[in-house]
Amino acid sequence: MKPVKVGICGLGTVGGGTFNVLKRNAEEIARRAGRGIEVAQIAARRPNPKSETGSTPITADIFDVANNPEIDIVIELIGGYTQAYDLVMKAIENGKHVVTANKALIAVHGNEIFAKAREKGVIVAFEAAVAGGIPVIKAIREGLAGNRINWLAGIINGTGNFILTEMREKGRAFEDVLKEAQALGYAEADPTFDVEGIDAAHKLTILASIAFGIPLQFDKAYTEGITKLTTADVNYAEALGYRIKHLGVARRTDAGIELRVHPTLIPADRLIANVNGVMNAVMVNGDAAGSTLFYGAGAGMDPTASSVVADLVDVVRAMTSDPENRVPHLAFQPDSLSDHPILPIDACESAYYLRIQAKDHPGVLAQVATILSERGINIESIMQMEVEEHDGLVPMILVTHRVLESRIIEAITALEALDDVVGNVVRIRVEQLN
Ligand code: HSE
Repeated sequence: MKPVKVGICGLGTVGGGTFNVLKRNAEEIARRAGRGIEVAQIAARRPNPKSETGSTPITADIFDVANNPEIDIVIELIGGYTQAYDLVMKAIENGKHVVTANKALIAVHGNEIFAKAREKGVIVAFEAAVAGGIPVIKAIREGLAGNRINWLAGIINGTGNFILTEMREKGRAFEDVLKEAQALGYAEADPTFDVEGIDAAHKLTILASIAFGIPLQFDKAYTEGITKLTTADVNYAEALGYRIKHLGVARRTDAGIELRVHPTLIPADRLIANVNGVMNAVMVNGDAAGSTLFYGAGAGMDPTASSVVADLVDVVRAMTSDPENRVPHLAFQPDSLSDHPILPIDACESAYYLRIQAKDHPGVLAQVATILSERGINIESIMQMEVEEHDGLVPMILVTHRVLESRIIEAITALEALDDVVGNVVRIRVEQLN
């Protein structure tokens, strides 16, 4: 059988990696796909010194690939929402299948893209959009298809995890670690996407859709970054038996679906609390399988290429099949998506770590306890540190049981109004993940 011709748009970290993996593993890939996969054209503004593209035709115009009649599958690896959107829509319009690693594109425009793909009978595959080399989309969409999924929680931004790990283990400065992540090709073009949780929210939006069978709703995801975390809180969390991770959490409740990205204290003995550096991990809890954990490299040249190529193999196997009988883009049949709402953050429930800076006066602890108990907030543990020499204040660290976000906000407002409490109360959510 003749090889399938594909076009790669974008020859950066992931594009270069995809070209290399296709070349390096060509024989194994053909044995799996049933046909060879040939890169017939590349669209790139400049060569990638890490990829020897040899005689493969290169164009500077991505639309040459989308309009190339020889090409069956367009691989979109340029990133961003604008040009990538036009490229993908053009490729679909031209009846081509699409493989993309673009989480922002899928999270923001996925509903529209999938509708167009259904209309044209083509596949849009996006395994590489979430958690780099971990085949978590396939695992949730197909491997866990028998489950009613209750929740999932993931470390889904490698750059953020790398920064938190280096800060905790080596005491390195935030900016310094971020620069290293950029040099290693992990960080987004706009690094605020990594450190402010936007990249993780894109990925969480996708995971929640395929886990619960809901449309993509990135605009409703709650996003809080890691830029305000202090070493003091990292150390206090450690003393209480927790690790701070930047977590994406999606949970189904009767009232709606929680969709939130924020720094989170996790018990230090959970496997996911020990996922360090650029590694990612996603825990998925289903009613039948219980908790499962998917771990691996969340970014980088070869790991992300691994997912792109796996999608290519899937597309090659399925492209001659009846479009109605393919795995649905969002795991559930498009006419069976649920309208269960995404909850606003103040209607979400979590346990909380609170750090209160108090004056060293008698009765302060009692006042704090009264404010919490009046609002039905149960304290799980409390730790009062020694007076700090530089300001004479006493750090009080509390961990609460689960409570509605709106209630903790109310309690924090009351705590900050106390004469003996100085400055803002630090609050970080806590998840037991059991
Ligand atoms: N910037 C992303 C990360 C790349 O650090 O995880 C992979 O999506």
